[in-house]
Amino acid sequence: MDLKEKIRVIDGFPAEGISFKDITTLLKDADALKDCINQMAERFKDVHVDIVIGPESRGFIFATPLAYLLGTGFVPVRKPGKLPAETISYEYKLEYGTDKLEIHKDAIQPGQKVLIIDDLLATGGTMYAAAKLVEKLGGEVVGLGFLIELNDLNGREKLEGYKVESLIQY
Ligand code: PRP
Ligand code: MG
Repeated sequence: MDLKEKIRVIDGFPAEGISFKDITTLLKDADALKDCINQMAERFKDVHVDIVIGPESRGFIFATPLAYLLGTGFVPVRKPGKLPAETISYEYKLEYGTDKLEIHKDAIQPGQKVLIIDDLLATGGTMYAAAKLVEKLGGEVVGLGFLIELNDLNGREKLEGYKVESLIQY
């Protein structure tokens, strides 16, 4: 299935000059949703995965069904102050200011092979932070998967050295 056809592009949202890739049109389509998760699994079929991680919030949507399909558990990476137990955090730069992501300290066991899934690769800042959190806990990042990749923002360069897969490119 051509998943790109299922994405709705909205120019000028959330600000002028931005062309927003709306995934809700794909998500509400039963066949497209199933195909999307199956395609992600296919991209990593030769990789051993112990656990799948998704960054809040849109990463949750794709990482959890993929974990279910692969027969692994799911671990959330969250925005600050959301996780109740002991966490570690990683702060990263945005165009203006900084952002931070957190993970539970006991979420990953050293040596576990981790696949991280998000909806979109833009600058790569979110995924880079998630990968660093996994590595801080001794996990091995075996793959980074996205539904959509925005080529112009060079996120792939920031993620050099990792196995990066995206189903749709703009
Ligand atoms: C969006 C998107 C990715 C990230 C990509 O998340 O879902 O996680 O930005 O951008 P980057 O590659 O430049 O880091 P956002 O922070 O908007 O939050 P959301 O998932 O909660 O909507
Ligand atoms: Mg996100």
